Amino acid sequence: MYNPVNLSEQIFYVGVNDRRTHLFENMWPLDRGVAYNSYLIADEKVAIIDTVEAGHFEKWIAKVRSIIQDRPIDYLIVNHMEPDHSGAIRILTELYPNMKIVGNKKTIPMIEGYYGITTNMETVAEGETIELGKNKLTFYTVPMVHWPESMVCFEETNNILFSSDAFGSFGTLDGGIFDDELNFDYFIDEMRRYYSNIVGKYGSPVQKALSKLGDLSLKMIAPSHGPIIRENIGKMIELYDKWSQYEAEEEGVVIAYASMYGNTEEMAEVTARAVAENGIKNVRVYDVSKTHPSFIISDIFRFKGLILGSPTYSNELHPNMEALTNKLSHMGVANHYYGVLGSFTWAGAAVKKLKALGEELKWEEVAESVEEKHALKEGNYEACVQLGKAMAEKVRS
Ligand code: FEO
Repeated sequence: MYNPVNLSEQIFYVGVNDRRTHLFENMWPLDRGVAYNSYLIADEKVAIIDTVEAGHFEKWIAKVRSIIQDRPIDYLIVNHMEPDHSGAIRILTELYPNMKIVGNKKTIPMIEGYYGITTNMETVAEGETIELGKNKLTFYTVPMVHWPESMVCFEETNNILFSSDAFGSFGTLDGGIFDDELNFDYFIDEMRRYYSNIVGKYGSPVQKALSKLGDLSLKMIAPSHGPIIRENIGKMIELYDKWSQYEAEEEGVVIAYASMYGNTEEMAEVTARAVAENGIKNVRVYDVSKTHPSFIISDIFRFKGLILGSPTYSNELHPNMEALTNKLSHMGVANHYYGVLGSFTWAGAAVKKLKALGEELKWEEVAESVEEKHALKEGNYEACVQLGKAMAEKVRS
């Protein structure tokens, strides 16, 4: 049994929730699960927009069939080939051998490569339209949002953008499917985490996509994960515009540190106190050995101030700080103020490496880095206070 969820008279939500998978891409925590969204258009022709992760096929196809019953599926639109959306293609083609698979010129070879399918493919070009009856889908490529073949489609009769990974979110859809049926603010953290973790490296392609799609008159954004947006379209676009330029959402400072015996941690605590004493209310202090980088990266996208601290470990960064800095480097996170803390026992290296990261990413250093030998002493205690003060002043400005 499935009570259909309509986006319009002929367009339906047929996505599924996944509360069992622990890690998205076997890497990013799914504490609040994830939804694999899929859409069905039952017009004169029947079209599906993206499938779901293969393990969820049964409950997905049951929803589809409760709506179309024994009608054939004419088109499968493949907006994106990552297997969380394409995973059910092969089994669907076995059930519907006459179904046409629609993708762009980069999609088609991937379908063959992943699933060995070579027949019944239809290649669409940029701006091309497929008519289903009343509903018409026009295709736009959005390369690297999130893969090279990524595309979106716009249904012009109802002004719905099927936006693939763009505007998506972690988190299952717990009853509410549309943003006005749920607490939208509850989802913003999961939207930012999804954006920063999955798409964060591709700020420039996201900017190009926003500009390409900017003239469309949107009444609804139907992404491949998370709520369907119809009340917060302007806010969502504004957030994407900020995130893709690595612009902060609000005043705040992230202090992320590694610490083996508490000395670098103490420096972080002293610095955090000084940040707060100088007027910054959003201060997030993270031990990188406890909090997964997914959540720290999300807050680094949210706030412009960033202080990194690490002890020197065998002439390197602490390995868990190294894991975070590698991700920040790989993502090319730009546009931040930064400061550096560190401690060592016989020879310092961590501070130099953290400073090099800031230089590589062209961050603005707000004060001299602080490097302590052994435990924190009076001179460097004061230097941590000055670093916190300088960071607060910079962020407030
Ligand atoms: Fe939701 Fe890039 O896949």
